[in-house]
Amino acid sequence: MKRTIAGIHSGEGGKADREARRMRDLLLRRDFLRSGLGLTGVYPLCCLSPELPPSAVLWEKDRLLLDLTAAAPLKRIGSAASVADPARKVNLLVIRSGKNQFAALDRTCTHGGAMCAYQHRTRTLRCTSLNHAEYDLQGTLLHGRTHGNLRSYPVRRKGKTLEILLEGRG
Ligand code: FES
Repeated sequence: MKRTIAGIHSGEGGKADREARRMRDLLLRRDFLRSGLGLTGVYPLCCLSPELPPSAVLWEKDRLLLDLTAAAPLKRIGSAASVADPARKVNLLVIRSGKNQFAALDRTCTHGGAMCAYQHRTRTLRCTSLNHAEYDLQGTLLHGRTHGNLRSYPVRRKGKTLEILLEGRG
């Protein structure tokens, strides 16, 4: 039997038409949610930590050097960017909390492994999972039922280079 949108709207047909209506309602609801999120500017927190471009990152044995002139995601005070190397088991969030204030912490929440994102208003890292564990810029757990603090790494600025000491994990 050939069905039409008009037929679906008029309610004709049996089980197949009910299924088609259910699918149409699901799609409409999905489109509504998408457009609503877009209109209000609300995006998942995990989307707020862009990756640093490879041209800004130099991995060395015990440290990571970031070229701030090539690290566009870190130009603004209050910004944060991720840098990861699965082979080294490193997944960091690098934060610029002031003109010359930077922090580097593990990005993976100690509770269930969800990613953390930086909230400049509170100067904290917040887990993007529903439990929303929160950590300060030293990695200390502020609240949330997790398995402890985030690891933080010593950071030094030398001119236009940011040095992150991977062996000096806090
Ligand atoms: S994974 Fe972060 S609070 Fe659960």
